[in-house]
Amino acid sequence: MILKSTCLDENSLLLEETLYHVANGYLGVRGNFEEKLPLSRSVRGFYLNGFYDTVELQYPEKLFGFPENVQRMINLPDVQTMRIYFDGEALDPLGAPLVEYYRTLDTADGLAKRTIKYSHSGGIITLCFTRMASFVRPELFLTLVKIEGTNVSGFLEIHAGVDSNVRNYSNPDDPRVAAEAISHIVPGDVTLLDDGGIVSFSTTKSELHASIVQRFSGNFDSLDIRRNDGGFSAVLSHKLSAGESLSLAKFTVISDSRHVSDPAANAIAIAEKCVLAGKDKIIAEQRQYLERFRAAAMPEISGCPDIERALDFNIFSLLQSTARDGVSALASKGISGEGYEGHYFWDTETYCFPFFLFTQPETAKSLLEFRYNTLSSAREHAKILGHTKGALFPWRTISGSECSSYFPSGSAQYHINGDIAHSFAQYWYATGDMDFMASKGAEVLVETARLWLEVGHFAADGLFHIHTVTGPDEYTCLINNNYYTNRCAEANLRSAAVLCTELWEKNLSDKVVSATGVTRKEVELFIKAANSMYFPYDEKLDIHAQDDSFLSKKLWDLSSTPKENFPLLLHYHPLFLYRHQVCKQADTVLSHFLFEDGITESTMRNSFDYYEKITTHDSSLSRCVFSIMAARLGMTDKAYDYYMDTLYTDLENTHGNTKDGLHTANLGGSWLALVMGFAGLRLKADGLHFAPHLPSKWESVSFKLCFRGRILSVCLYAEKMVFSLLSGDSFRIFVDGQSYLLETQLTV
Ligand code: BGC
Repeated sequence: MILKSTCLDENSLLLEETLYHVANGYLGVRGNFEEKLPLSRSVRGFYLNGFYDTVELQYPEKLFGFPENVQRMINLPDVQTMRIYFDGEALDPLGAPLVEYYRTLDTADGLAKRTIKYSHSGGIITLCFTRMASFVRPELFLTLVKIEGTNVSGFLEIHAGVDSNVRNYSNPDDPRVAAEAISHIVPGDVTLLDDGGIVSFSTTKSELHASIVQRFSGNFDSLDIRRNDGGFSAVLSHKLSAGESLSLAKFTVISDSRHVSDPAANAIAIAEKCVLAGKDKIIAEQRQYLERFRAAAMPEISGCPDIERALDFNIFSLLQSTARDGVSALASKGISGEGYEGHYFWDTETYCFPFFLFTQPETAKSLLEFRYNTLSSAREHAKILGHTKGALFPWRTISGSECSSYFPSGSAQYHINGDIAHSFAQYWYATGDMDFMASKGAEVLVETARLWLEVGHFAADGLFHIHTVTGPDEYTCLINNNYYTNRCAEANLRSAAVLCTELWEKNLSDKVVSATGVTRKEVELFIKAANSMYFPYDEKLDIHAQDDSFLSKKLWDLSSTPKENFPLLLHYHPLFLYRHQVCKQADTVLSHFLFEDGITESTMRNSFDYYEKITTHDSSLSRCVFSIMAARLGMTDKAYDYYMDTLYTDLENTHGNTKDGLHTANLGGSWLALVMGFAGLRLKADGLHFAPHLPSKWESVSFKLCFRGRILSVCLYAEKMVFSLLSGDSFRIFVDGQSYLLETQLTV
């Protein structure tokens, strides 16, 4: 897929800083112009996934247990800037007469390119920039520049280098970005090289360190490197004759102390290998990597090239956003911007994890490893909240501690424990990786399960109730028995119990028992709580109530709410919102997608209709879920409309804040809604279940899935589904509840 733009107006440029960013799960560089355009709200960003500083929180009224600090993904030294002078005059894309301008992003090779043609002294100067974040060499950000003179000659100078004098973006009026701009970089050693320099730095408080090596190669006449305040400048000079071109490669390599003990030495060694390999090899490797990825992961929607292109962009962006190292994970804005300060939420597990589970199980596993590696912080967090046992994963975090300063829609979202537990259980069902479950998964399932026994209680009616929590819908906070939360808790308790029982049976329980002290008696209690879980239900409406008090609140009239008052969170006090029946996002409807067993069709349908009327979709996590459930309930046209909204959320900036970063949950949602919505895939303990609902506008949809060491392809047509087993042993699948044996090919 090729994304292309010819726009040079301020709003498009700000949006494109995100859309044209390049990232590889480890580093991310926003799509800024090398020339450093003077745009007032520009975010000139270079980030490492999860490389953070600590910022002290100031509360006028600080109560017990409130987080003291938050973590923030920091903007790293500027490695992008290249000011270009021709005969002493700066080439300015917004000021000079342009003959042509366009930029592209190609998902097949992961290259972002930009071409600018200036008319100059009767001739044309053409500048081509190419950028890539290497998937094969995650520490590498490569920039290529080619400058050509047609009927013009002159003296070229390019001013580049590494500048540590940077700050994070801030906007005190938007709670979704940081309120104050602080510099987080403490400059360290700077070493000059013949062809570049090495810049080391630390964070102000979190004690992380990193080193950047930048080296230049090309046919320039001379290169002058000088040390400056916390960085270095590189001036490349060249006498350009008419018809000649200057080609330049800039290798920027970064390494950090979370991964290696000596980031400078590591960056130097990697940079050396990159320079030796050369740009052509590096570009070829990238293309091969993406070919393999696309073959495994990219669905096809026949006859709909535009829709395929949008999906392609979303899936490629998801790949760019996701770490594969177990040290970091997947932030709600990926590595594309500073919205939500680079934090990880439940977005990862509930919306993005399934894509990786079914297409790149190793990446899915590393996301689980990340949670496992932060389990001790989650245990600490549970203690701070008054619990004596168990672990409570933070609502938003980078390295494991709670970073939410507003607990009603932060720490109170206990459902994140259930979401994480669900992803471990799904991994288990999809891979059968018992080693991982015995050594790590079981510990997470037990620690999260036992927390429900602490949060909830057996009430006078004999049922298990969970009070004072917040569900996914952030317009309703601190309520009793959120239906979604109770469902998550039930599933969490059951999967912990089933896994422990299996580990005991197979003599594989040593690790979980020594790590958690879990006993058979405690597991019995898990089962008792799960079996007694209370679920709010309104008989008259035949719907699940979002929580105990939700249906008794005043209904919000969305039809008479002025358009400019959306998203409501920016225009109404939280208490005002909490007193109404109004939803920011799918909540009960989401639980009907994730935990459908035992729910009647009519309850699902009535709940969908009821909540649809009062849901604003102010969160980008909502529409894909409504698409999935509309498909599930046979409303394929409606599902299609929600799907279109999902697909274009970032490409068309429908939430108005893509400038601050991509909506990664929604990116994952665009795969989910296709595979779990239209093809109706559900992963259950007994295998893969499908329930197809192809939109009438489409001829067919096909995609591949990894399942327990097999690869299968699934094609969905209006009148049939065709399954092919591409590798691995035959197995049984379910279509519309009927079991079939898939040997090589099966048409249902
Ligand atoms: C949503 C949350 C989500 C967060 C990060 C909020 O607007 O309500 O559910 O986790 O954004 O994407």
